[in-house]
Amino acid sequence: MAVDLLLGLQWGDEGKGKIVDVLTKHYDIIARFQGGPNAGHTLEFDGIKHVLHTIPSGIFHEKAINVVGNGVVIDPVIFCKELRNLEKFNIDIPGRLLISRKAHLILPTHRLLDAASEAAKGKAKIGSTLKGIGPTYMDKTGRNGMRVGDLELDRWKEKYRALANKHEAMIHFYDVDIQYNLKELEAEFFAAVEALKKMSIIDSEEYLYQAQQAKKKILAEGAQGSMLDIDFGTYPYVTSSNTTAAGACTGLGVAPNAIGEVYGIFKAYATRVGSGPFPTELFDEDGATMARVGNEFGATTGRPRRCGWLDLVALKYAVRINGVTQLMMMKADVLSGMEKIKVCTGYHYQGQQITHLPYNIEAENVTPIYKELAGWQKDLTGLSKASELPETLNQYIAFLEKELEVPIKLVSVGPDRTQTIER
Ligand code: GDP
Ligand code: IMO
Ligand code: MG
Repeated sequence: MAVDLLLGLQWGDEGKGKIVDVLTKHYDIIARFQGGPNAGHTLEFDGIKHVLHTIPSGIFHEKAINVVGNGVVIDPVIFCKELRNLEKFNIDIPGRLLISRKAHLILPTHRLLDAASEAAKGKAKIGSTLKGIGPTYMDKTGRNGMRVGDLELDRWKEKYRALANKHEAMIHFYDVDIQYNLKELEAEFFAAVEALKKMSIIDSEEYLYQAQQAKKKILAEGAQGSMLDIDFGTYPYVTSSNTTAAGACTGLGVAPNAIGEVYGIFKAYATRVGSGPFPTELFDEDGATMARVGNEFGATTGRPRRCGWLDLVALKYAVRINGVTQLMMMKADVLSGMEKIKVCTGYHYQGQQITHLPYNIEAENVTPIYKELAGWQKDLTGLSKASELPETLNQYIAFLEKELEVPIKLVSVGPDRTQTIER
């Protein structure tokens, strides 16, 4: 039985949380494979909005098992806050949420190191969510990290101390003014670790293998987006994990030939939060409208998201790298009322017109080439059938499908679970 993947194709916040929630009824297991609490996945139903950071977006469905895979980095403090937010929903957490022994832990000093590193970079800062993601993955690849499974060892606090001491020395090395009270942070961390230790901690690669043998249906939930991938994104303005399809194999222990559908999800326009190149970014009325109507504020940090037109060059690149088999277009409702919709189909680059993503996509190197399409005036938020979509939106969809050579199987017209149209 194949493992399906759901991945963001842009700079994150495409609406992955909403769609995982919508798709969960078709699956037995939802498994997060990378990233950590830098993610903010929003789900809306029954008039309630939920934001998840570490916990997979299938948690509200009674039958689904949710797995936090080995590729994820967990901050016990944030994780416990998420659990507390779920308390009132009467979810069988021990039975429905399983955590990999091999997932790495974000220590309080990882967060401090993130802050110190960003402060030291000054104007060149990444615009990190400051959740300690980069430093934790650095310790993972540097073979110094602490994993959930270490908490089962008697002497885990000694290991913790040695690592935290090293981090403190590194914070001093940065020579920036970071105020902190480590004692307080540690008290909060140790309390959260005790709660984490009571969770169902498993060898998730073994669990997922057995589930595949038993023909269970598994959906892997990505975090961030392809343009934030550590290898293929707009480096160094990226996150520290592989957000692309290959990351699901390493982040869950799923073999490449076990991957089935690859759902690629994108907004009808584009957004980015944090620093880094964004060729189609708008600084005009249209950009302001997208931000306002789309309510474009980060689900984790509350920062305003930068907005711009859809970048087909970047989107094609993401579709290829991930081997996307089905596309899902989000937030089509946000563009309603716009006279013209623009799509970037190429760049002016070093005196030439190109249709691939060059090494340097900073604003000073590339100027987008746009195709203009007619907009649609109809309010989409109450629609439920593909036959009700306005003609000009169908033309926009048809144009994108032709360019991307992958069908758009779902159109999202609002944040609620029900505002989802299958095609
Ligand atoms: P994720 O990180 O990919 O899960 O996405 P986020 O939750 O960070 O950001 C997506 C935002 O758009 C959330 O506030 C969603 O509630 C909202 N959203 C999702 N789909 C739609 C849609 O089709 N239309 C509108 N207007 N909002 C949507
Ligand atoms: P979801 O899963 C959007 C961005 C940050 C910053 C860069 C590095 O909700 O789509 P990090 O904290 O990883 O060191 O930040 O990546 N970023 C995201 N942007 N959505 C996310 O997750 C993001 N996670 C990280 O803004 O530019
Ligand atoms: Mg998000």
